[in-house]
Amino acid sequence: MNDTLPVIAIPPVVEESLTDAERADLTARIKAQLIAQDAVLVAHYYTSADLQRLAEETGGCVSDSLEMARFGHAAKAKTLIVAGVRFMGETAKILSPEKRVLMPDLGAECSLDLSCPADKFAAFCDQHPERTVVVYANTSAAVKARADWMVTSSIAVRVVAHLHAQGKKILWAPDRFLGDYVQRQTGADMLLWQGACVIHERFKADGIRALHRQHPEAAILVHPESPFEVIALADRVGSTTQLIRAVTEMPNPTFIVATDNGIFYKMQAAAPGKLLLEAPTGGVGATCVSCAHCPWMAMNGLRKVLHALETGANEIHIDPATGQRAIHAINRMLSFAGQTGITLAGLSAD
Ligand code: 13P
Repeated sequence: MNDTLPVIAIPPVVEESLTDAERADLTARIKAQLIAQDAVLVAHYYTSADLQRLAEETGGCVSDSLEMARFGHAAKAKTLIVAGVRFMGETAKILSPEKRVLMPDLGAECSLDLSCPADKFAAFCDQHPERTVVVYANTSAAVKARADWMVTSSIAVRVVAHLHAQGKKILWAPDRFLGDYVQRQTGADMLLWQGACVIHERFKADGIRALHRQHPEAAILVHPESPFEVIALADRVGSTTQLIRAVTEMPNPTFIVATDNGIFYKMQAAAPGKLLLEAPTGGVGATCVSCAHCPWMAMNGLRKVLHALETGANEIHIDPATGQRAIHAINRMLSFAGQTGITLAGLSAD
């Protein structure tokens, strides 16, 4: 199958380091730029607390990848500054081609996106023309353009269950762990691309079991990009938004959380009295390169947001023909969510 996946070089995690005075100065200047340029900041839960706080304070959005795009699309602002990884900026641009979309750092990649080059993916699809092509949001515009459906982690099971009920066979890309989870949940016939998220694939079942022995009162929350053995331990599996909601809904005083630790900013705010523990990434014989934080997400910071706003650097451009094809796959999911009454937005509904 797709056994020649690209080798992905994982950069070190380099967090922006600021003094309080620098943070205050940058924040004030960004706020002024956002107003002057009719711009809005849209940030993912995995970005720094500084960016999430600023997005909240300025009427922007902190959410998962899909809601970021939907918020950007609905926003009246002429410019979107998308703090996250590149596919998030691209998805925002596909849904809002008339808006200027800037990113703090265009080098902020996603290992899932990198694992799935558009030409190799198209060849794979061509080998299986009988299959409905469903891709995860964490893909390039060109890969989305080749797909029948795009899904996010919050809706993947429901879309595939719907297609399975229609007798469709699925070609799924790029996350093999999420694909495996969806396959087990739905029983659908799924052919899986073999990509993985370099953060989630490092969570270790043994380490989580050991931590749970120390905190038997804890519920285990797992993002479905994690390996099967880790998902098998979960009390709740879900997207970032769904995991944040879980800490407010579940009675447990303690949670072991297997996803990028950037989520702790909003999760702790949602449940201030609860103890949140990072799921271990290094089991026996494992190495910890990323330590539960995406090095590409860490490339976002206040300095780079200001630079992009002041200079117009790092604008996302999508070939219009590619964008027009890609939007069909995204809109299919949005209209499915609308027809089935699924609210993807925010933390208020499932
Ligand atoms: P969510 O849609 O759950 O926020 O996931 C985005 C992502 O990239 C996870 O690695």
